[in-house]
Amino acid sequence: MAAQRTHASHVLVYAAVLAAVASACGNEGTPSALSPRGPEAGRIAVLWWLMLGLAGLVFLVVMGSLVTGIVRRRPASEEPGAERPGSAGHDEGVAPARTSGDRLSRLDRRFVVGGGVVMPAVILTLLGVLTVGAVDAVVKSESEFVVEVSGEQFWWDVQYPDLGFRTANEITIPAGTEITLRLTSPDVIHSFWVPELAGKRDLVPGRTNTLVFEADRPGVYRGQCAEYCGIQHANMALYVVALDPDEFESWADRRREGPLPPATAQQRRGREVLETEACAGCHRVQGTEATGTLGPDLTDVASRRTIGAGALPNDRGHLAGWILDAQSTKPGALMPPMDLAPDELDALLAYLETLR
Ligand code: CUA
Repeated sequence: MAAQRTHASHVLVYAAVLAAVASACGNEGTPSALSPRGPEAGRIAVLWWLMLGLAGLVFLVVMGSLVTGIVRRRPASEEPGAERPGSAGHDEGVAPARTSGDRLSRLDRRFVVGGGVVMPAVILTLLGVLTVGAVDAVVKSESEFVVEVSGEQFWWDVQYPDLGFRTANEITIPAGTEITLRLTSPDVIHSFWVPELAGKRDLVPGRTNTLVFEADRPGVYRGQCAEYCGIQHANMALYVVALDPDEFESWADRRREGPLPPATAQQRRGREVLETEACAGCHRVQGTEATGTLGPDLTDVASRRTIGAGALPNDRGHLAGWILDAQSTKPGALMPPMDLAPDELDALLAYLETLR
């Protein structure tokens, strides 16, 4: 009784774990390919469910046959050893294996050909055709709205050629519009993946790949570099922010105008720090003397959700820590520690907070 109870409790625990894992796959807000928010991701999700269904079906048929074979023993008269008198009782309860001389019955042969040749051929052909169709849908010809994305170690450079605007780690788009990403990389292979919107697409040095996708509705969709690219591969996240088309227009207008000039003496001092300290060597802020391109463009840094491509939340405290010692958060990133006096840091933070 006790053993049975232990067994039952084990089954319950396994069921609970499975249910938790299964529910985590479809949670709202998690970047799951199983909650598609656009037509391209939708096609991939349909394909996924179809594959799961077919694999499940094959599994059930194979397991069913196996169990049937174990449970339904062959009648004694068919057993090759049954006729030999001396062997009776010798191997009782054990069905002797067929010898190579046995011929497959017609039914057996049909089963082998049907299950081993015909069924895989049909299933694999069907999945092949559907997969090629789904791939075709995401690499189709470019749409009008183009965003150029470059995978850097370890962040995303984002440029809007038609807007003349540059940013990093966040791609703002209008919902309901087909977007074309032109994907490149100056260093190693990265992979762009926003599971709710589209499949993965590699960023390969020396070539430009395109990815076409659309977001059905406004929302924030988390993405992640999906190709191991170095020590901080895990901290190479991005966000796609889909806005209502009207909201997007006003966002684009603000971006075209660039950031407001600093309003206070402290903010002006902060801009001076940015332009004269090492910052300007790597970072650019539209309309200033900071024109570096080695690191992320900071023109709208205050409006971003995170610092360091998803490494930290974007608030004053974390930003201060990042500026002074980024390596303790993201070892291997190119951002060096900055040696700033407290009043310089304060002024710099005050200025950076105006960049939105
Ligand atoms: Cu970039 Cu992994």
